Amino acid sequence: MRANEILDGLSCLSLRTLSLAFRRPSELRSYISTCLRKYDEAVGNGLPCRSPLTPAEDLTITIPAHHSGGGMSFNELVILARVTKALRPGTVFEMGTYNGLGTAIFILNSDPSARVVTLDLPPDAEDCQAHIPGDRDLVASRHLASVPRALGLHEYSQLLCDSMSFDPSPYLDSVDLGLVDAAHDVAHVQNDTVKMARMMRSSGIVFWHDYGGKGKLRPLASYLEGLATRCPLYRIADTSLAWAPALELKKTVG
Ligand SMILES: C[S@@+](CC[C@H](N)C(=O)[O-])C[C@H]1O[C@@H](n2cnc3c(N)ncnc32)[C@H](O)[C@@H]1O
Repeated sequence: MRANEILDGLSCLSLRTLSLAFRRPSELRSYISTCLRKYDEAVGNGLPCRSPLTPAEDLTITIPAHHSGGGMSFNELVILARVTKALRPGTVFEMGTYNGLGTAIFILNSDPSARVVTLDLPPDAEDCQAHIPGDRDLVASRHLASVPRALGLHEYSQLLCDSMSFDPSPYLDSVDLGLVDAAHDVAHVQNDTVKMARMMRSSGIVFWHDYGGKGKLRPLASYLEGLATRCPLYRIADTSLAWAPALELKKTVG
């Protein structure tokens, strides 16, 4: 455990935290992480809270009944579904497929003519050369695109390559809705963000997952907060989603 993780834990010290440490030690990390994220939101640390859009009152969304991992909370799935439904993207690009829950959300909530593209490492990839052990665990535990398969959804393109070597040229200025959710170390997030910015249409929206986490995810938050000094970037309350309008993001890093 690193020094900043210990400090994060100490900063949440209370009788209830101590009680949890003894009664359910496996829950402690996520409890502290949730407390810290809530605290940051409440006092205005980090990115400002803002919702990307308000869907029309007559819209409905579709969520797969079975939630099969990947780290997205139910709240986050609902938000991505609502944005997809309201934005009506012509092209969606997701970096980090995992089991394809996000992919399914995009397919189920976009127009039938929409193009959904999702990128992940090839099935036989042993390692993603990422510096975060959690990423290696995700690579090892994924059942690539098992969710769309179980739902009988085939209307998407699966790209299989490391995002570091991925060439975004065929997609330049064509993506309306982007999600950066592959490896979580700074080198990858920066690479994925720059490539996503180049692929975005100016009118589009880019999301990042896992913003606001502490410990090993802290560098990701620092990178996005650094970016926010140069272009508008926001967080969505009660989630680990961050987002940016593509227009300024493209000017800044694209
Ligand atoms: C957090 S999961 C993605 C979750 C998914 N977006 C969802 O909605 O369920 C991260 C995924 O990124 C993939 N990944 C990790 N490093 C990668 C890299 N360098 N290039 C492409 N994909 C990578 C992992 O294999 C894993 O499936």
